Amino acid sequence: MAEDFPVSLRRLVRARFPLLSISTAEETRVLGSIAAVVGDGRQVTPQRRVFTWSTSAGFAALGQPGNPDSRTPLAALAAAAALTMPSVVVMFDLHPWLGSNAAPPDTQVVRAIKDLVRFYKDGTVPRTLILISPVQNVPAELESLVTLLDFPLPDETFLRDLLQRMITRNTEAGALQTDLGDDGVERLAQAATGLTAYEAENAFARAMVADAHLTVDDVTVVAEEKRQIIRKSGVLEVISSSVRLDDIGGLGNLKTWLTKRNGSWLGEAKAYGLPAPKGVLMTGVPGCGKSLTAKAMSSAWGLPLIRLDIGRIFGGLVGASEQNIRTAIRTAEAVAPCVLWIDEIEKGFAAGASGAGDSGTSARVFGTFLSWMQEKTASVFVMATANDIDLLPPEFLRKGRFDEIFFIDLPTRSERRDIFRVHLVARLAAGPALGDLQITEPVLDALADATEGFSGAEIEQAVISACFDAFNERRTLVTDDMLREIGNTVPLSVTQAEEITALRNWADVRAVAASAAQDREGYTTPPAEVVTPAIDPDTVRHRGGRPVDA
Ligand SMILES: Nc1ncnc2c1ncn2[C@@H]1O[C@H](COP(=O)(O)OP(=O)(O)OP(=O)(O)O)[C@@H](O)[C@H]1O
Ligand SMILES: [Mg+2]
Repeated sequence: MAEDFPVSLRRLVRARFPLLSISTAEETRVLGSIAAVVGDGRQVTPQRRVFTWSTSAGFAALGQPGNPDSRTPLAALAAAAALTMPSVVVMFDLHPWLGSNAAPPDTQVVRAIKDLVRFYKDGTVPRTLILISPVQNVPAELESLVTLLDFPLPDETFLRDLLQRMITRNTEAGALQTDLGDDGVERLAQAATGLTAYEAENAFARAMVADAHLTVDDVTVVAEEKRQIIRKSGVLEVISSSVRLDDIGGLGNLKTWLTKRNGSWLGEAKAYGLPAPKGVLMTGVPGCGKSLTAKAMSSAWGLPLIRLDIGRIFGGLVGASEQNIRTAIRTAEAVAPCVLWIDEIEKGFAAGASGAGDSGTSARVFGTFLSWMQEKTASVFVMATANDIDLLPPEFLRKGRFDEIFFIDLPTRSERRDIFRVHLVARLAAGPALGDLQITEPVLDALADATEGFSGAEIEQAVISACFDAFNERRTLVTDDMLREIGNTVPLSVTQAEEITALRNWADVRAVAASAAQDREGYTTPPAEVVTPAIDPDTVRHRGGRPVDA
């Protein structure tokens, strides 16, 4: 995905790769792109003639009526074998013959493709077969022969032209009024990135028909359409979040590191010669703010937050998991700049391990993901979280994948004060009947002292429970309400002490502390047991050590 589609296609066709497979639902756009590249003698010599096949039209020269006798795949493959001039044969929707979990492949068709590919490869005339379908199943027989190629979603320029054409057509027909300037067109087009041309057209149409008026406010209509469509795809979801950076208590190091990278996707950053940040991996004790940080960052940066559900990548048809991850990556790139939030990234490995003989798939999916992380140039900032680090394979932690691995430990005393402040301020502001408890230093001290070993989530829960106590007696909130709730809570750090110690030992040598150094002063962690990890010494950072290179 590092390369442009036309560039990759030109390279592969010139190098005479005999079989390419492209997964996309955008037949018109992809065919246009293929014809533009291979039908242009300046780009590809010798210039190729383009032929197409679909089961409805049959085999045809591009733009010509098809031959009805060649509507079966076997007849089409025979016609393709008979071509004697330099050519590219584009076959649409052959996937039903290539098999799936539910149905075996058609062995004759698979064999005919294999024979054709051999024949093309051995022949002197350059010929290429391109398979295009919305689902990409590759039967085992073809796996080593096929090259998968990604077709990106339309970019902003394409969408802007599309929208501009629609505006012109509809205003001329008297069906639309608009005062949208270039700026407005651009914003609407940008709101539609991540959609196919067809989906974008529908989203624009919806914005137009609502009141026969097109204004900048219609950005919300388009954005809502996009949210629906992206969710329908199953693996990605656009999350709207109003969490601010100030809503995070503590985690000073992580916040500073992230804040410094604000704007790194802008052109201005290039003037500083900065590489686009890849992203961070956050691990840590449950309930201490991993998900919260992902949400807060996207809103602090003003970037859309796209959540990738790793569990849902794995499912369905053979080959579908790999296609799902490619689709997810492609969509995220099209929406860029954005934050791609992958919660509990290790879950996919668990699925791979327990899934029925699916470990190869899981390895390939993560291979695809990791090489994308390594090579990506698009401004997709990945915020991945992991709870069960034992499930993370070492390649994940290698340099070049994530910019940094942060460990979010239980909050220190000073951080607990911060977290209490955040939640108390929020509750008191939301509920006038709670009264005007003064959040003084001694109050925060008392609360922080009573909550050693509490996670942020447990602190929040204590505050909420205390508010219920006050509500129950229809009175104002007092500090003792909180202290009582705290006394009634057995924190996770007690019930899961062993797991947490193991996590800390792991993080000690591999991750950087999310808390600021000054917040960690005087903070005692349980003695770490001696561990002898087999890791790349380059990646070793010490949690308690130097202030991180934020
Ligand atoms: N540092 C913090 N500052 C303020 N609130 C916090 C903090 N950490 C946790 N919380 C509160 O606890 C809730 C749960 O935190 P969050 O979902 O971020 O935890 P997590 O680290 O993602 O946990 P999990 O591993 O269970 O997914 C947050 O919505 C927030 O209200
Ligand atoms: Mg979480």
